[in-house]
Amino acid sequence: MEKIRIRGGQRVNGVVPISGAKNSALPLLASSILSGSSLKLSNIPSLLDVNTMLSLLGSLGATYLVSQDSIYSNTVTLETDSICRYTAPYDTVRKMRASILALGPLLARFGQCKVSLPGGCAIGVRPVDLHLRGLEALGAKVELKDGYIDATARDGLKGADFTFPLVTVTGTENIMMAATIADGVTVLRNVAQEPEIVDLANCLNRRGARISGHGTDVIVIHGVTSLKEAEYNILPDRVEAGTYAIAAGITGGRVDLIGGNLADFLSSFIEKMKQIGLCFSEIENGLRVESSGEIAPINISTEPYPGFPTDLQAQTMALLCLADGESLISENIWENRFMHAAELMRMGACISISGAHAHVKGVKQLRGAPVMATDLRASFSLVLAALAADDYSTVDRVYHLDRGYCCVEKKLADCGVVIERISE
Ligand code: EPZ
Repeated sequence: MEKIRIRGGQRVNGVVPISGAKNSALPLLASSILSGSSLKLSNIPSLLDVNTMLSLLGSLGATYLVSQDSIYSNTVTLETDSICRYTAPYDTVRKMRASILALGPLLARFGQCKVSLPGGCAIGVRPVDLHLRGLEALGAKVELKDGYIDATARDGLKGADFTFPLVTVTGTENIMMAATIADGVTVLRNVAQEPEIVDLANCLNRRGARISGHGTDVIVIHGVTSLKEAEYNILPDRVEAGTYAIAAGITGGRVDLIGGNLADFLSSFIEKMKQIGLCFSEIENGLRVESSGEIAPINISTEPYPGFPTDLQAQTMALLCLADGESLISENIWENRFMHAAELMRMGACISISGAHAHVKGVKQLRGAPVMATDLRASFSLVLAALAADDYSTVDRVYHLDRGYCCVEKKLADCGVVIERISE
């Protein structure tokens, strides 16, 4: 098991290259299943979750070539003409829930698929009922057998009008992908509006799909019979950018986040960070974030995009642990996404949890301690607390970090942080 050891009390100052977005890369890789034409995706981050998605595609019979563009990103060329198996097995899905993204594309192209039911994870129960209801609306027959979703559409999927009762990101992606090659017109209402959904729709449209309305709450899809070969460069990771912005804020430092137009995708986050005391300015190909020296308390409430992102809640909590007063954090997306709070308290934070709300009373100083990561974003919140602490900290179970943050030690070391990975 690997750990990360960090010396606290250092300013994070420097340039941070922002990698491609994990939550764009995963659906875009899965979308390659929709057609036998090749797909070349660039700015794909080097991450464990990306490797898991690639091995899932390989297990279905796809082939792929990964070429390294830099230590932070790869270009992946996928050939999916050879797909001949239609099952996403339990062993893959239990490692990464986003494997569910194979469901819509497999069913739409081959009329059959079996995907293991994901089950819950550290942050919540995470049902996929809305994915299944959306596919049923398109004419699929869905059965749950032996822990698997067994879906068939022998005569192909048919366009339909479907309203999501709840906003779901991967649910929207799954049904949008499936409808791309369904027969007729599909209207999806109350859909997620995340930039990653827009990225997926843009890539599909480049391949010949006819999708409109992406980025609003209604998406209209005119089904096409096939998709053509294309190349596509994925979005920068707004969650990674927000995380490093907080690294500057919590240490009194300054970072230049380089990776394109980040401010547009982070507006609600930036608005809150400005209230806390961070300063933002647009620079060439990115965003400069500078601490004002103040950390003011605020209230935040996580919401679907364009609201404050749940994927930046844990990191923001670390920052507010050092605020000059009391903050309230309400987590409205995941029912169990405060597991980092107990670890932050081991570092001296003063937090009390009541249901979906965390009251965070700022303290003057966090203390270095050995802490344990519980999920991807929680693990970075502990790294952030460790950066600001008065002594060395070790963060255990860093495999969570490797699922979604590329080259953490290098990016932080390049900003002057003393950090090392320890293997036991
Ligand atoms: C995506 O997960 C992201 N993952 C998550 O990022 C992110 O936290 C989440 O969206 C919310 O923004 C990827 O994009 C790969 P949802 P997803 O379906 O799609 C309920 C990270 O750290 N729901 O939008 O699985 C669900 O329980 C990860 O990078 C149902 O009830 O999330 C939740 O309360 C973690 N039934 C809410 O909807 C369903 O069928 C939103 O979940 C589907 C969802």
